[in-house]
Amino acid sequence: MQQHFLSVADLTRAEAEALLERAASLKAEWRAGGTGLHAQWPLRGKTLALVFEKPSLRTRVAFEAGMTQLGGNGSYLSANDIDMGGRESVPDVARNLSRWVQAIAARVFKHGTVETLARHANIPIINALSDREHPCQALADCLTLREQFGHLQGLRLAYMGDGNNVCHSLMLLGGILGVSVSVACPPDYRPDAEILAHAQHLAAASGATIQVTANPIEAARGANAIYTDVWTSMGQEHEAARRRPVFQPYQVNAALMAQADANVRFMHCLPVHREEEVTTEIIDGPQSVVFDQAENRLHVQKALILTLLGL
Ligand code: CP
Ligand code: NVA
Repeated sequence: MQQHFLSVADLTRAEAEALLERAASLKAEWRAGGTGLHAQWPLRGKTLALVFEKPSLRTRVAFEAGMTQLGGNGSYLSANDIDMGGRESVPDVARNLSRWVQAIAARVFKHGTVETLARHANIPIINALSDREHPCQALADCLTLREQFGHLQGLRLAYMGDGNNVCHSLMLLGGILGVSVSVACPPDYRPDAEILAHAQHLAAASGATIQVTANPIEAARGANAIYTDVWTSMGQEHEAARRRPVFQPYQVNAALMAQADANVRFMHCLPVHREEEVTTEIIDGPQSVVFDQAENRLHVQKALILTLLGL
């Protein structure tokens, strides 16, 4: 595996499969152990810095709890604490942290910031969400799909709404792992053209297809999972009112779910705006696996840290 994890496309198929396998065994071990701690505390004495420019529940707690459960420690640094790029330059943050801790998980506005951290750190940098990708989320989502269906190859996932960071990582990881992804989005909110082309290139090798349409019914037809995310991502709050009517036709509701396979699952990275991108009935109903996705953040992020640290 490469030194850093900035994009799911940093992984080969074998590496992605090995991470999911490792996450599944860490999950089984942790559940069987009952103490909350893994045997032998493999991260004893090790610290993960969490450099976060934006809020977080799942990513932060999954990293902090994961470090604790493996015998290590997480050190959370919000924008108020370090003001990356203001009080201290991004390269200097990377150089300083490299002297004290063993890895950095960074949640940033601009993807370029995680790339700058990676250029100047000599410890692994993990992208904990940027404007371009949310790779830890996509790993948890694929683990969830694997648990639900017993396999990934040949599954069909329909993504509804904004062609954003979450959508990008799903297209890329789907392409790597043989999961076909159909994105339905308003024409002005399509995923990045370069990332789409990259995902399609990866999919050609795995036997999957990655498509974008403006028609939600076309994307949903026969899908094994329907996935959506908020219509307004962090940092875009001023656009919320303008976006709402544009995205309304992409709401996941009972009528859209009925277009999918009879055994369809509903997925969302959370946090959710109930009655906007998805109806309460669907997200709180029996087809929803959103809290399995949330739990699986813990397991994939543990597998990721261990692997990046060569353990
Ligand atoms: N899904 C996700 O990344 O959640 P947080 O923003 O709460 O970390
Ligand atoms: N697309 C969302 C994901 C939040 C986990 C955002 O960037 O805000």
